[in-house]
Amino acid sequence: MGMIGPHSRIARLQHARNPKSSFGTAASWRGAVVAEVEGRAVGVVRTRGALFSDLWVDPDVRSLGIGAKLARAGENRIRADGHRFTYLFTALFNARGRAFYERNGWTLARFTQHRVFHFRRCVYVKRL
Ligand SMILES: CC(C)(COP(=O)(O)OP(=O)(O)OC[C@H]1O[C@@H](n2cnc3c(N)ncnc32)[C@H](O)[C@@H]1OP(=O)(O)O)[C@@H](O)C(=O)NCCC(=O)NCCS
Repeated sequence: MGMIGPHSRIARLQHARNPKSSFGTAASWRGAVVAEVEGRAVGVVRTRGALFSDLWVDPDVRSLGIGAKLARAGENRIRADGHRFTYLFTALFNARGRAFYERNGWTLARFTQHRVFHFRRCVYVKRL
């Protein structure tokens, strides 16, 4: 499916470079919200505290509103955990992802650098 899961090459690489990162651990994916269409997993999002992360939708089913639904599910979970704000990181070059978040009520707060891969990232925030 092309999903970046706990056993993917990128997850192993990141874990090797930064063992403190929870990205590669199986446990960190256990609570992920998964979107299903006719029994097939087509999208995922996960949260940790107020952090919203790893929103991804299968390219075959994009532009159908699945991303927006998953985003709402992630935001609802963060709100249910008692947080009134949420935040996320996305690559500066991810124009489609950034437009998606801006349409879905997120605000660009600042820029930062990815600790492992050194590309520029945007920090977006949203009031819940
Ligand atoms: C960003 C991403 C999650 C959006 O997922 P999606 O399922 O396509 O999102 P939505 O369908 O809710 O909205 C996206 C598009 O559909 C349109 N749309 C929303 N609801 C719709 C509906 N019911 N019917 C038709 N179109 C709709 C939106 O206008 C938007 O337009 P676009 O195609 O120009 O982007 C997806 O593109 C993705 O997985 N990208 C790669 C990973 C990524 O960048 N993740 C986020 C950053 S970490």
